[in-house]
Amino acid sequence: MTDTRARRKFRSQEWFDNPNNPGMTALYLERYQNQEYTRGELQGERPVIGIAQTGSDLAPCNKIHLFLADRVKAGIRDAGGVPMEFPVHPIQETGKRPTAALDRNLAYLSLVEVLHGYPIDGVVLTTGCDKTTPALLMGAATVDLPAIALNGGPMLDGWWKGKRAGSGTIIWESRRLLAEGRIDYEEFMERACASAPSLGHCNTMGTASTMNALAEALGMTLPGAAAIPAPFRERMAMAYETGRRIVRMVLDDLKPSDILTRAAFENAIVVNTAIGGSTNAPPHLQAIARHAGVALDVTDWETLGYDQPLLVNMQPAGDYLGESFFRAGGVPAVMGELARAGRLNLSAMTAAGQPWSALLEGRESLDPEVIRPVARPLRDKAGFLVLSGNLFDSALMKTSVISDDFRRHFLSEPGHEGVFEARAVVFEGPEDYHDRINDPELGINEKTMLFIRNVGCVGYPGSAEVVNMQPPDALIRAGIAHLPTAGDGRQSGTSESPSILNASPEAVVGGGLALLRTGDRVRLDLDSRRLDALVDAAEWQARRAAWTAPELPSQTPWEELYRRHVGQLAQGGCLELATAYQRIARSLPRDNH
Ligand code: FES
Ligand code: MG
Repeated sequence: MTDTRARRKFRSQEWFDNPNNPGMTALYLERYQNQEYTRGELQGERPVIGIAQTGSDLAPCNKIHLFLADRVKAGIRDAGGVPMEFPVHPIQETGKRPTAALDRNLAYLSLVEVLHGYPIDGVVLTTGCDKTTPALLMGAATVDLPAIALNGGPMLDGWWKGKRAGSGTIIWESRRLLAEGRIDYEEFMERACASAPSLGHCNTMGTASTMNALAEALGMTLPGAAAIPAPFRERMAMAYETGRRIVRMVLDDLKPSDILTRAAFENAIVVNTAIGGSTNAPPHLQAIARHAGVALDVTDWETLGYDQPLLVNMQPAGDYLGESFFRAGGVPAVMGELARAGRLNLSAMTAAGQPWSALLEGRESLDPEVIRPVARPLRDKAGFLVLSGNLFDSALMKTSVISDDFRRHFLSEPGHEGVFEARAVVFEGPEDYHDRINDPELGINEKTMLFIRNVGCVGYPGSAEVVNMQPPDALIRAGIAHLPTAGDGRQSGTSESPSILNASPEAVVGGGLALLRTGDRVRLDLDSRRLDALVDAAEWQARRAAWTAPELPSQTPWEELYRRHVGQLAQGGCLELATAYQRIARSLPRDNH
């Protein structure tokens, strides 16, 4: 018997051209042939390239991909491939309740099933809005088919009364102005809408721009892809080139496992500090690393990332928005500056088919006001601190957004720069916070630390961006714009709050945060990286003994499934059982009839 398997070049031919099983081949072929594809294409030893489409009316941040897909397809066809676009479960950060984070793992799961179960040889991942980027990279890592990411790009810069109005950031600022009585509800809405002037994702260095910059730093896009604003002509050219490139990647069998190495993640952590990236990056990168089988620990974010410079002057850590970042050279310029200072591992491979060492020649900042050189950073040691203590095993603090005002006000005790003792006020979730924050009985003053719990992966569910709680209106009117806050949820990447967040394990699974009570003293010590409740051991033990896990009613079947299988933010908030499935494109699924 001749071994027909050896002659088949592409995985898709197992569907479309399998003489060992003509009945099945006919079933696969006739139904794809009745649309635009010819038998010659499907049996002609051309790779089938999936386009994982994240754009829809429900997902405006990624809607531009509905138009970019035509350019991607043109690139795929010109390079000899056969494009097949398919939908991804929508994940709109500002649309999905209770959280888009809940659906990151659902989109991941469904993408894995599609890539494994259909005749696909390689895939273009259309990324953009916060969770779409990690969801798709996680799926590509699990399946390990050749894959390349293409983001839709940030919106144009927003403007309000002659000043840049950045996505999200203007919401947090306007929320304070409203509390102070300086603007009304109508102006609040106008300011918010001014920040979103075109198609595209958030124009600040929030989670979307962060995750797309990190996708590029990981090597999963063509160089220069991340920062191009959505409506720019360069974005369409990038879509076309990405389509061409994925065909070559399939021919060369260049897979995520060749690109997503430990070196790639180390580079991404350094780049995250340099861009002033979001505190959502650690859980998402942890998740991508786990699905890729790469060892990455939450403490790596401090070890590798803390002692790095902030180079990019972009909101919320700086002043500018996406258009300026693009014109200053985007991610390649940032990586060029870092590379010259010896901060990157240039041997890491990229989707371009070359390692970074071959790609950063001559890449430098084109506008030092927007992208600084390493010798003249906006801030030194600008990465995340990883804290521990009796309230959690780990939590993150983004130091690049700690203002000098905040430092002076809260963190200086004589002889102990970075130490703050406070009285805790504890909220059981955002509803409780909104109900009670202005209650004078709580006695909130400038020596208070605000806590929020039950808002992590299992608790919320999905982990909510609610830790950046603003002080009571009266305190804001008295000039206190921020209080220290902590919680087991996340905060928006566009927030400039110096919160302590992503506390793991979360309260509802028995993390120490569950035992904290309003009125307890707490001590934050940034020098020793600790946050502790100053409650004596016997009392803490008694509270622990009396604690019972709360009932967590789910509203949908997915919520219940998710809660049963999700891990903690420090480990990426993955579906734990999914991390055992790796490089699954190596196994072919069985025929379906
Ligand atoms: Fe979608 Fe910010 S809300 S990118
Ligand atoms: Mg958000």
